[in-house]
Amino acid sequence: MEDRLERARELLKKYNQEHLLHFYSELTDAQRADLLNQILNINFEEILYLFEKSKEDILKSTEEIEPIKYTVKADLTPFKLKQYFNTGVKAIKSGKVGVITLAGGQGTRLGVNGPKGAFCLDVIPKKSLFEILCDYIKKTSDKYNIQIPWYIMTSTNNHFDTIKFFEQNNYFDYDSNNLYFFVQDNLPVINVEKKLVLSEIYKINFASNGNGNLFYALKKSNLIKTMEQKKLEWLFVGGVDNVLLNPLDPVFIGYTISSKCQIGSKTLFKSIPSDTSWVFARKSGKPSIVDCELFSDELSRITDNKGNYLYREMNMLAHLFSLDAIKKMSTIKLPYHRAFRKNPFVNSEGMKQVPDEPNIYKFEQFVFDAFSFFDNIALLRINDDEEFAPIKSFNGPHNPEIAAQKYKELVLNK
Ligand code: UTP
Repeated sequence: MEDRLERARELLKKYNQEHLLHFYSELTDAQRADLLNQILNINFEEILYLFEKSKEDILKSTEEIEPIKYTVKADLTPFKLKQYFNTGVKAIKSGKVGVITLAGGQGTRLGVNGPKGAFCLDVIPKKSLFEILCDYIKKTSDKYNIQIPWYIMTSTNNHFDTIKFFEQNNYFDYDSNNLYFFVQDNLPVINVEKKLVLSEIYKINFASNGNGNLFYALKKSNLIKTMEQKKLEWLFVGGVDNVLLNPLDPVFIGYTISSKCQIGSKTLFKSIPSDTSWVFARKSGKPSIVDCELFSDELSRITDNKGNYLYREMNMLAHLFSLDAIKKMSTIKLPYHRAFRKNPFVNSEGMKQVPDEPNIYKFEQFVFDAFSFFDNIALLRINDDEEFAPIKSFNGPHNPEIAAQKYKELVLNK
């Protein structure tokens, strides 16, 4: 132990993080060992580099931005719709499509304890976000009498609770042999003074490192091999919190397959030009989602000669990746973005404090950063009234009450 303590001290001194051992003398032996283990396994170089580097993230000019092609679902002829539908159903029925749910987030804006997927929608009977997703998948698997593999990405913070939640709910009657839970990586959070933060006097505060860690996490857990063995060709990738998200929408699947792209994504129309949401575009010729904070209004008003807006397609985290695309991405390291969040911390007196304002930076990789590693993407704009009701916070526009209302109207009473 003495040797490890000495090594930890040296490391902390080198990176100016000595406060992490501030309460060491008050800890039990087990806590000491735990803390030293955490310190000795942190890549301080990387985290401090990310802190500096991610400040440069914001795009500085419009020069390298070009519009990207998209299709509006509402404009498709009944013939085309049917064609895409049939192509999608054929792929699903022949067992080529699996589902990946990204459930490793912390749900900090919603601020409830436990996995966000366990959050219950206020409908009768109450339904958790996981059950809602499961219902959609079950409906398709029952309809075509097939097994659909469902991969759920968790994080170190919620992995065991997620599995426990499924067990307690008897896997919502889904065949547990077709369910795969895998864990993404995490990184320490850091405060404005460039210091790592304690969440307990013997625990360093780590946060999951963004949903873009998906590809690496799949590879690390050896699941890409099982996908190959199952002869899957397409994987739907979606979040855990949109109660109107059917992961197995045949039209979207058929549309992406017919487009001959390796990746596809559903988009939402940005109705308010000044909205600073990121939009789909080509950046240096490659499909991307760009942060147009600096010029959103200007970009949002540009149309083509038929009056179609060029930069109004927003991401709703509903993507389709070919298995080849997933394999390719599992060999590539995605960049990190940083987010400023509220996070409880232990103060210098050893007391746990809940901040009123954001106080820490966390570093995240985003799934959508994978798009720029491909030449094309199939974009399908859907109607947000029908397919988009995520739960992000209690007070904002994406709150549980609205989601429950839409779910009742569009799913339960349909
Ligand atoms: P959000 O960015 O909305 O994050 O994630 P969140 O965890 O739901 O909520 P906040 O931002 O902390 O308030 C969109 C989707 O990506 C998943 C989430 O679980 C959600 O389904 N996600 C996010 C991960 O799987 N891993 C991450 O590290 C972050």
